[in-house]
Order: sequence, then C-alpha cells, then structure tokens
Amino acid sequence: MTTPAADPALSAADPRSAPAASRRRADAPIGVFDSGVGGLTVLADIRRLLPAEDLLYVADSGYAPYGDRPEAQIRARAGRVTDFLVAQGAKAIVIACNTATGAAAAQLRARHALPIIAMEPAVKPAAACTRSGVVGVLATSGTLKSDKFEALRGRFHGAVEVLTQPCPGLVELIEAGDFGAAALRALLTDLLLPLLERGADTLVLGCTHYPLVRGLIQDIAGPGITITDAGGAVARQLRHRLSDTQLLRAGPPAGHVRCWTSAPAPATAATIIRRVWGAPIAVEVLPE
Ligand code: DGL
Repeated sequence: MTTPAADPALSAADPRSAPAASRRRADAPIGVFDSGVGGLTVLADIRRLLPAEDLLYVADSGYAPYGDRPEAQIRARAGRVTDFLVAQGAKAIVIACNTATGAAAAQLRARHALPIIAMEPAVKPAAACTRSGVVGVLATSGTLKSDKFEALRGRFHGAVEVLTQPCPGLVELIEAGDFGAAALRALLTDLLLPLLERGADTLVLGCTHYPLVRGLIQDIAGPGITITDAGGAVARQLRHRLSDTQLLRAGPPAGHVRCWTSAPAPATAATIIRRVWGAPIAVEVLPE
C-alpha cells in the first residue's frame, strides 16, 4: 500500500488529465473498478443497458477488502487504479464500490476531467417501498462511517427508520468464491437477524459484493422481504452522462470486456472472476 503522502494521485487537479480528456471519443472504453469481484455486479448492469460499449474492469483484489482500511489508503488505491484506466483511454469512470465512493469520489472528480459515476446505497427506492417504515442497510464499515452515507441517511430521517449493519468478514468470504459455504450462510444469518427482529421489511445491499449472494440473503430473510441494490441506477446514470456529453457509443457491434486483477494469485482470481461473470473474459495482471 502506497502511503498517501508519497502518492501523487492524492494531489489536487492534475494537468496531465487534460490532453487525455480532449482526445476522448464515443468509441473509447468505459473504465470500471472495485476492490474485487463485487463491481462485476455493476459491470453486468452496464453491459445489459449499454451492450455496444467496450468495458475495462479492474478488480483490485490484492487490496481487498477496502471496507476496513483507513480512508487515505482507499483514496491512494482508487487514485492509482483510476490513473491506470485513464491511461488505457477510458472516456468515463464508474466507481463500482460504495466504500471507494465515500472515500475517494470527490478527489477523483477534482483530478480527472471526465464523467465519474459513483455508487449510492439504494436507500431512496427502499424508503419508497417499505411498508413497515423500517429499512435495513448492509454495507462495509467504511461506507457506513463516511460523511456521504451520513448525509444520505439524513435525507430520510423522520420519513423512515434507517437501520445499519456493518458486515466485517463478508467481502472476504465472497472474494473466496464459494457461495455455497456454510460459513457464508452462518455469517449472513447473524448479520440479518438483528435487522429483521427490529422490523426491517426492505434491505439495501450497500456494497457491490452483496448482490452476488442475493439469493442466499433472500432465502434467509424470507419471501416477504424486499431487497434493493444500486447497480441498475448507476448504469442508467452512466448512460445519461455519456449521452449528455456525446460520448455514447452506438451499436452494433457488441463491445468487448477486458479485466485486470491485482490479486497475489492471479490464476485463482481469474477463475473466480470468470465464474462470477458467467462468460469468457480476458483477465490480465494489473501492472504495479
Ligand atoms: N464492493 C465494495 C463496496 O461496494 C468494497 C468492499 C470492500 O472491499 O470492503 O463497498
């Protein structure tokens, strides 16, 4: 992990971004990143909505989980990964990670003159559909501690009760790729019960890893519980921003997907990425 003081990614607006920005074209790729495989859930939503776009994905699994790291470390990683994607010619960046959004979205926007789309836990749709008036948010400790989340929660204060549940250990189990593991069901049961006992009838998946175990969450919570996530909304927001800036790529042909990982065991990581993605995908090692 680079120390923040040594990392130029943490400095303010960088003129190196300007020439790249002026060369951006509609047929350039979209850069998407997360601390690991979780952002693939957002990538899938983007692919469904914008099938003509070329997509670049970085799984920063060598540094996962982001959720328990100090903000300065997450900012440093988000800065490095975004620099890499911009150097690959990305016309827009999607921060497919709630934790990195809270820690780094403002700095990335100050530094890069291109559309940067970020996550927001789907509290708004959850508040609109709860019948009990109690919404439960599952997210990393980093997301729940961020000013951004506090502001989001404040917007619904009084209208609905927003319960929060940090989920230490969950991202690690999901990154391991064994979605049938007994330990995963046991941990999810422990995390969900306090929310359900306090009357939550709507759950917000406030970390992009969690939709990968949505079926298990629904199974534990029961059929009467509604589950929301923000992947679809982020894909729509991306389409809107690209359209506004004349950067939307018209199809056909269908776009390509390329992926990089910083995992210490890239071959194992590639197997898990392909299993999660559910289709052939080229996986390369992220240069340090
Ligand atoms: N998928 C991420 C998020 O949405 C990061 C989880 C982590 O690395 O802790 O917060």
